[in-house]
Amino acid sequence: MLWPLLFTLQASCSSVARAMQHYPAAWGHYDVCKSQIYTEEGLAWDYMACQPEATDMTKYLRVTLDPPNITCGDPPETYCALENPYMCNNECDATTEELAHPPELMFDFEGRNPTTFWQSTSWKKYPKPLHVNITLSWNKTIELTDDIILTFESGRPEQMVLEKSLDYGRTWTPYQFYATDCLDAFTMEPKTAKELTQRTLLDIICTEDYSRGYVWKNDKTVRFEIKDRFALFAGPRLHNMASLYGQLDTTKNLRDFFTITDLRIRLLKPATGATMVDENNLSRYFYAISDIKVQGRCKCNLHANSCVFDKGKLGCECEHNTTGADCSRCKKHYHGRAWSVGSYLPIPKGTANICEYIVALFIMQILISCKDFQHTAASSKQMCRTGNTGQDVVACALGTCPLMFPSGVSLGDLLITPSCLLCPFCLVFSAARVCDNAMLRCQNGGTCHHHQRCHCPPGFTGILCERVHCQGSGECDDQLSGQASFSHPPVGRWLARNLVVIPLLIVFLC
Ligand SMILES: *[C@@H]1O[C@H](CO)[C@@H](O)[C@H](O)[C@H]1NC(C)=O
Ligand SMILES: *[C@@H]1O[C@H](CO)[C@@H](O)[C@H](O)[C@H]1NC(C)=O
Ligand SMILES: *[C@@H]1O[C@H](CO)[C@@H](O)[C@H](O)[C@H]1NC(C)=O
Ligand SMILES: *[C@@H]1O[C@H](CO)[C@@H](O)[C@H](O)[C@H]1NC(C)=O
Ligand SMILES: *[C@@H]1O[C@H](CO)[C@@H](O)[C@H](O)[C@H]1NC(C)=O
Repeated sequence: MLWPLLFTLQASCSSVARAMQHYPAAWGHYDVCKSQIYTEEGLAWDYMACQPEATDMTKYLRVTLDPPNITCGDPPETYCALENPYMCNNECDATTEELAHPPELMFDFEGRNPTTFWQSTSWKKYPKPLHVNITLSWNKTIELTDDIILTFESGRPEQMVLEKSLDYGRTWTPYQFYATDCLDAFTMEPKTAKELTQRTLLDIICTEDYSRGYVWKNDKTVRFEIKDRFALFAGPRLHNMASLYGQLDTTKNLRDFFTITDLRIRLLKPATGATMVDENNLSRYFYAISDIKVQGRCKCNLHANSCVFDKGKLGCECEHNTTGADCSRCKKHYHGRAWSVGSYLPIPKGTANICEYIVALFIMQILISCKDFQHTAASSKQMCRTGNTGQDVVACALGTCPLMFPSGVSLGDLLITPSCLLCPFCLVFSAARVCDNAMLRCQNGGTCHHHQRCHCPPGFTGILCERVHCQGSGECDDQLSGQASFSHPPVGRWLARNLVVIPLLIVFLC
């Protein structure tokens, strides 16, 4: 009867409870979303900001190449070494497993010898540029937590751009430019990540650090320096993550800078090893990548501490009554408080900013629920039809009233099934009517018109004709007291009383 209502209110109220408790010993990892604590009222949940652990994100990506047929081996080709045009023992044949170099080999487990790698066709069409786009897509927003590292098995490219997308590949912005000569290639002054300051952290730079053609045997990697950028706030060994988290919390641009859904590596010019391209032996020029490292975590807006890969799709396991792949909205019926991202502050537990149950909406729904309230005199039961379909009908005994919801509202979500509420709640819910033939009968032979007013016989007055129409002062005192047994006070008074009762009830439960 009344229990579903109380239970639901209770559920929402408990989440409002705030209490003192002990901080976890380890801090700053934000790996716990909630914990049980003892309060004066007993066991309760304490909610905290939380995020999944950083992990190797290359396990979850989809790679696409543009042009699609740029991978070597179809038809088979023989390549010569860049540094020695007479050393031509690198064979690529897509139809032979040992000689094929498909894109997946950029993400497989290295540590074997010789290393496996993806390789492009050679620069056969020189001087037409050899352009390749390698796009990595997660179909999920992720936050980078460590340097992006590309390992090249040939020379590192003389020109390339790393780009990012935050909208699943619809729009792209550069992350960093790489060239042997930044001015020449991109008309940008060469810079290094180490030169960045807190103020210029978001600047997009061109760096010559990873393209120098002559030392490529020693260093095969091209980096996008996440940690150097973090260090501007967290200190050289990232010992002060609190400062970084604080900064990420307050600066959306900074947070977005490290957030991506896709990465694109635009290879614009392969290593040539010299100023002149040897047009007689273009088999020396190609791209080959043995490894790509991308460390990060699912972006869950600090509302989840785990992220699952299911049916080829990453998704946060949302807590705090949030939902969506990124926990970026409140669960249905939990809009009692506007959704907001969790906060790293105050360190170390942060603030969960949980979504709360809609108490106000819940009451609204009850209020409108009985707008097609009907009584059938014959069965001495009250019938309630839902507004739109009129299909759900609940019969309730006198003294109770049906609790129904407009169609479209899912009862399951509300932890409530169609049921009968005890009066006096009923009178609130049927507040729109003044009289009827069941609970709110017109008295003394009055007749109810359209549930809006009683037509009273001569000599009676009042909303339900409950009072004798007095001709002069003092004349009908006796009759008035005789009417005192009238079981329902005028609706207005009921309404006033019950509308007070409900908020009180809520306050009381909280
Ligand atoms: C790739 O395909 C396009 C058109 O389908 C063709 O013009 C081009 O020559 C092909 N490139 C290679 C390297 O096979
Ligand atoms: C690569 O991406 C760029 C835009 O970022 C586009 O202009 C170009 O056509 C794409 N394809 C190749 C092969 O460069
Ligand atoms: C990306 O994820 C959405 C669901 O969030 C799915 O509908 C869509 O098909 C996915 N796209 C790709 C390319 O996997
Ligand atoms: C050039 O490439 C071919 C194979 O395409 C190879 O036989 C030759 O030795 C290479 N070197 C020179 C200097 O021509
Ligand atoms: C979310 O809603 C459920 C069901 O009402 C409740 O048990 C839980 O305490 C709520 N709060 C959070 C943060 O999960």
